[in-house]
Amino acid sequence: MNEVPLVPRSRSLQKTLSFVHNPIPVFYEYMEDYGDNYYIYLGGLKKCLVTANPKMIRHILQKNHKNYIKSEIQTDILAQYIGNGLLTSDGDYWLRQRRLIQPGFHKERIKSLVSLIQDVVDAQLEDLEANRGQTLDLYPKMMEIAFRIIGNALFSNSATQDELNIIEHAIYTVQQFIVKRVRQPFMQPIYWLNGDLKKYKKIAENIDDVVLGIIQARKKLDEQPDDLLGMLINTRYEDDGQPMTEKQLLWESNILFVAGHETSANALSWMLYLLAKHPEAADTLRAEIKAQLGDSSLDFDVLMKMPYLNAIIMETLRMYPPAWIMDRISKEDDEVDGVPIPKDMLIIALVYHAHYKKEDWDEPEKFKPERFIDQRNHPAYFAFGAGPRMCIGNNFAMLEMQIFLVQFYRKFDVALTDETDATIKALITLKPENGMKLKLI
Ligand code: HEM
Repeated sequence: MNEVPLVPRSRSLQKTLSFVHNPIPVFYEYMEDYGDNYYIYLGGLKKCLVTANPKMIRHILQKNHKNYIKSEIQTDILAQYIGNGLLTSDGDYWLRQRRLIQPGFHKERIKSLVSLIQDVVDAQLEDLEANRGQTLDLYPKMMEIAFRIIGNALFSNSATQDELNIIEHAIYTVQQFIVKRVRQPFMQPIYWLNGDLKKYKKIAENIDDVVLGIIQARKKLDEQPDDLLGMLINTRYEDDGQPMTEKQLLWESNILFVAGHETSANALSWMLYLLAKHPEAADTLRAEIKAQLGDSSLDFDVLMKMPYLNAIIMETLRMYPPAWIMDRISKEDDEVDGVPIPKDMLIIALVYHAHYKKEDWDEPEKFKPERFIDQRNHPAYFAFGAGPRMCIGNNFAMLEMQIFLVQFYRKFDVALTDETDATIKALITLKPENGMKLKLI
């Protein structure tokens, strides 16, 4: 067995401030000194195993996934606010939910959402017309687009604009608080004393009230619209033939909102940034759109087979993986290539760092969509995770990004300006720290 090096507690304590500000360079520094796998004391307290080794990450997520559960950050803290469902549960309950919901996300089902997603994108792009010629922060716009897409895909016309606004604002506010809780666990007693714990729970309950109202109204309909909520309401458990309860419908809807909008918004923002930085790639994309679609309406099968479009999306998610980090806890002792993984160990898988390893990627610092033209399954690629807990919304996410890019580049272009700043902020997701200011052409 190999000895796994430990970053001295004094060093991780010294780095606390830089770590809280931006953990990515700190993880890099440690990697340089200690290699792909090392122990650190998180917040000076909790010992955990950090890995940027693709084989180790795949082992944990996929090969021996049965030995690993999610950490309490999701199954406890996040679940307190959005409920117990796909993203936030484990074990038998999770498996039953996943089996129930998975078919609703198969390509054949997602196909029926093309025009619904396109309508949202077109309406949002129409709004942007007024800004043509200006430099503006496109990040809030991408957040709005991604939120409207998941909102409409879930509820089609059943949610009013006001209701969607309430949900959007409340999710945003609660997420900010969750990040604070996770980053500064020692503040927990303060949050309890100053009433923040109660305050944010109440805000999360506002989301529940709105979403439950929509679900109850929808359950009264004889026929469900062809959207994700319709799918959730109509589906039946294989074992007892029963539908989900109202509470389960609420939790899974909340989870799809939370899991499915910031990740996509970040990806869209980074994509525009990379295409503004590489106008030759935008030209190639435009040529592909012209050749494959011309001016005709969008077709699911054509979109799926546009090699350059899909390669741009995959390369963006390699360079800026929105889910840049994943965590698991080991149930039993395990081992990968002589590296021991002790029982009950919190493991931090660095997706971002795995996506930049020189051993696995040719010139990883460079934006090279071509690398994904002939290769869709790279062993060191984890943008959507791996194994049975891989992103259930990956086909949906691909589709919304495809539709957005095609419709955007049919109308607009973007260019870098002096104000463009691509500093990354690595919170729960990887986002642009100062928004994404680009010139809209
Ligand atoms: C670019 C966009 C997206 C990225 C990069 C992304 C990434 C991921 C990753 C890496 C995981 C696995 C986490 C883990 O194993 O710990 C995950 C899980 C999940 N994602 Fe996504 N996601 C995206 C979009 C979406 C969308 C649009 C939806 C919903 C429509 C969605 C719903 C979910 C759900 C429900 C899970 C939990 C699945 C489970 O544990 O069974 N995601 N996502």
